[in-house]
Amino acid sequence: MPAPAKVYVRTFGCQMNVYDSERMAELLGRHGFAQTARPDEADLIVLNTCHIREKAAEKVYSDLGRIRQIKTARADAGRQTLIAVAGCVAQAEGEEVLRRAPFVDLVVGPQSYHRLGDLLARAKSERRGIVDTGFPDEDKFQSLPPRTPPRAVTAFLSVQEGCDKFCSFCVVPYTRGSEFSRPVSDLEAEARRLTEHGVCEITLLGQNVNAYHGLGPDGHPWSLARLIHRLAGVPELKRIRYTTSHPHDMTEDLIRAHRDEAKLMPYLHLPFQAGADRVLAAMNRKHTAADYLSLLARIRAARPDMALSTDIIVGFPGETETEFAATLAVVAQVGFAQAYAFKFSPRPGTPAATLNDQVEDAVKADRLQRLQDLLGRQQTAFNSTCVGRTLPVLFTAEGRHPGQLVGRSPYLQAVHATADASWLGGIGEVAIVGAGRASLTGVLKSAQRPKA
Ligand code: SAH
Ligand code: SF4
Ligand code: F3S
Repeated sequence: MPAPAKVYVRTFGCQMNVYDSERMAELLGRHGFAQTARPDEADLIVLNTCHIREKAAEKVYSDLGRIRQIKTARADAGRQTLIAVAGCVAQAEGEEVLRRAPFVDLVVGPQSYHRLGDLLARAKSERRGIVDTGFPDEDKFQSLPPRTPPRAVTAFLSVQEGCDKFCSFCVVPYTRGSEFSRPVSDLEAEARRLTEHGVCEITLLGQNVNAYHGLGPDGHPWSLARLIHRLAGVPELKRIRYTTSHPHDMTEDLIRAHRDEAKLMPYLHLPFQAGADRVLAAMNRKHTAADYLSLLARIRAARPDMALSTDIIVGFPGETETEFAATLAVVAQVGFAQAYAFKFSPRPGTPAATLNDQVEDAVKADRLQRLQDLLGRQQTAFNSTCVGRTLPVLFTAEGRHPGQLVGRSPYLQAVHATADASWLGGIGEVAIVGAGRASLTGVLKSAQRPKA
């Protein structure tokens, strides 16, 4: 019997790519591929790529350089290796990937990976690089086999893809295409399957997740809030999260869901990108700083303990020191539990890439540093406010030390506590005794996990 074929999948970029990689691995499992963590023993190497900033995209090509050496070494030993580039670099660059890396066998965009089986067969028989970056008419999700995930406590579930917002700096509307929402019944079925595999926390994903408007069982489009209430009816599902949202689509019913739906966690990632209204307008963000702040006030009125997270870009073209100070001022006013900050990266094909007044890299680096210092202090301060409280922690994995587990608080903080393995997948009450920038430590209130 020949050894089963092996696939190595490497994922770059956002959580939607993590979800896509899982679905690709499951699909390839049906085509006889077992997963491996070692690229040198893989018959198929899939790079699921990200195009959001230049650094992310260039990383793919440096990885491909190393993978080429593996392919050559394996060929010398008489073994074939297929290399597939999937995801957003594949979509954005298409044929260009083959020009820069002619040893790649397949370039497949995020909307075409349900065809992986056929595409690989073609790449193998035609012995030339194949490019599929179309936006096919058929629904990718309908064409994928039902989920067969490994046992896990938490999972991602893509409910929406693509984006119609066209922020002037962003490639996503081009790499992922226009907004598409999956039907409620499909999502409910997938959520049930995930819970059958041990999952009790699901994060609903979309590039613009709160613009969700999937077909409901009544034949009408349902909002994200309605979808959340529906999924909350799955008994084994204990916690629901969602990401990433746009301020413009933060509707009243979604805000109310944070007050009314116990399974919806008090954590919200809501990017605001910049604090100066001139910059926000040039970014085509469709909100002002004041809109954002009053929105947060409404959200906090509905859910006073809401932990807030955000994305911020420094050094957008033309950003002055005063405009950057406005970003710092918004951050100071909000007090984020955590956040991501980036230097503006001009992306080919986006309007902002060709604007005059590009900001010098040294200036961007200095602003990023100052912003990250402030965000770091806020994160530590937020974590410190949890000391002395008792939080329900969902235990997800073994800790670094024997007898210790790691879990998640409702606010998405990592929590370390002494607990035996029977607690994995369970929610325990933990008295928080310590806090650092990145995590909390606590003491579990009952040693025995109650029988379900
Ligand atoms: N759909 C989400 C996330 C998009 S990408 C949203 O609307 O916020 C994640 C983050 O990357 C963005 O929020 C933005 O802060 C950052 N980003 C996107 N394009 C960028 C660029 N050209 N340069 C620097 N950061 C960028
Ligand atoms: Fe990109 Fe998000 Fe803007 Fe859409 S809303 S264009 S994904 S930053
Ligand atoms: Fe990157 Fe594509 Fe996600 S560009 S951030 S992998 S949608």
